[in-house]
Amino acid sequence: MVQIPIAIVGAGGMGGRHLRAMGALYESGMANVELAAVCDTREDNAIHLADTAEEMLGARPEVFTSMEEMRNKRPDIEAVDITTDSGSHHLVAEMAFNLGYNVLCEKPLSLTIRGCNRVIDAWKKSGKVLSVGEQERRDPMCRLNKAVIDAGAIGKPYSFLLGSASGGNDIIIWPWRHYKNIGGIFVDAGVHAVDQMMYYMGDVEEVYAVSKVWEPKRFKGGRIGVANFYEHWYDEVPDEIDADAEDMVISTLKFKSGAIGQWTSFYAAHGEPLNYAMIYGSNGSMAPAKQRRGAPLSLTIDGTGVVTGDDVLDLVPDFHLEELPARLFGSDRIGSYDTPFEDADRFLVALEYYELGQCIADGIKPEVDAYVGRKDLAVCNAALESSVLGRAVTIEEIETESTAQYEASINAHWKI
Ligand SMILES: NC(=O)c1ccc[n+]([C@@H]2O[C@H](COP(=O)([O-])OP(=O)(O)OC[C@H]3O[C@@H](n4cnc5c(N)ncnc54)[C@H](O)[C@@H]3O)[C@@H](O)[C@H]2O)c1
Repeated sequence: MVQIPIAIVGAGGMGGRHLRAMGALYESGMANVELAAVCDTREDNAIHLADTAEEMLGARPEVFTSMEEMRNKRPDIEAVDITTDSGSHHLVAEMAFNLGYNVLCEKPLSLTIRGCNRVIDAWKKSGKVLSVGEQERRDPMCRLNKAVIDAGAIGKPYSFLLGSASGGNDIIIWPWRHYKNIGGIFVDAGVHAVDQMMYYMGDVEEVYAVSKVWEPKRFKGGRIGVANFYEHWYDEVPDEIDADAEDMVISTLKFKSGAIGQWTSFYAAHGEPLNYAMIYGSNGSMAPAKQRRGAPLSLTIDGTGVVTGDDVLDLVPDFHLEELPARLFGSDRIGSYDTPFEDADRFLVALEYYELGQCIADGIKPEVDAYVGRKDLAVCNAALESSVLGRAVTIEEIETESTAQYEASINAHWKI
């Protein structure tokens, strides 16, 4: 199989996670891309990622501190995988298209609609591929959640109830996740939640929400981030920061289908953490399986009772995973899996890499394209806009920028 040379641009925590995903793709025997370079404006971070890559993949990617220099010195590289911090995505992605690269860009595509549109304009002019890094829906259990809903197992979906509460006053990974203009935690994590909800329920049409900053001062916690991806930088996290990004947003969502959602995102919760997800339909309910855990989804169907584990597969006889996920997770029909969390995490991003290679080589379209990525952001920003205006806000209003009071300071910060 031809392996397309690509570069990781952004060698922080997520750059490291993407590197592990590249390792999983190599191990699968289906690698259609190869890591040729890493690029970071912080040379020490680029060197650290290249060192780790050499250990993990057996070949050292070349190190660059600018994409222009990389373009000149390695004209064979066809794509960049952008894992820089969220606020910079629109600048880095726009430059990547102008330099002639295909792009896989981590979510969110940008922090504002105007930023997304800058990327979309550059992408359209370039004729290259743009895929947005939204890996959660690629989990075999999320594929099964969707197949079961689409098969009508719980009838017509009435409502999605989703919530999480944790965080206290800790700095969540890096300070930038608490600064509104360069990437608040609600948008950073919220685009995942929105993508899941719209994947199962279809598009959101309107949002009414209230938001708040409960913890304007945050402090360094005992560890940063998940599964030690960020430990290398622990000493760099300041002891205390002033936060201005919302740490609580409670939203009511109207879906185009007529379904209604309730979504609580609370990142300043002290005490006991909370996590819930339930989809109610005209014939029963579904507790959707979570990504990377492998635990089965659970249905409670009128007249039948509880259906879970492999029995769920009987409801969707035509459900099959594609070749690479089947190879990574062990079968093309699974009702649960016991793959360790760290492996499931790298497998999901490996699926994104593989799809990027297919898009470049075979001309297929990415599943999460620029418009899906922009809409995921628009729902989050509609919630924040709604709280500013004190009224419900449609997704169309956000996507057409007919109201953009919340986004105004972010656009001003980035001078766009
Ligand atoms: N999909 C997921 O599950 C998931 C999880 C975590 C993070 N992310 C996303 O990944 C991105 C990176 O997050 P992170 O936690 O790794 O951030 P980070 O701050 O740890 O790393 C960002 C890196 O990008 C570099 N950088 C910044 N601007 C650059 C530029 N113009 N050119 C080259 N390098 C530049 C920084 O020096 C740093 O090394 C964010 O957009 C975040 O939302 C996604």
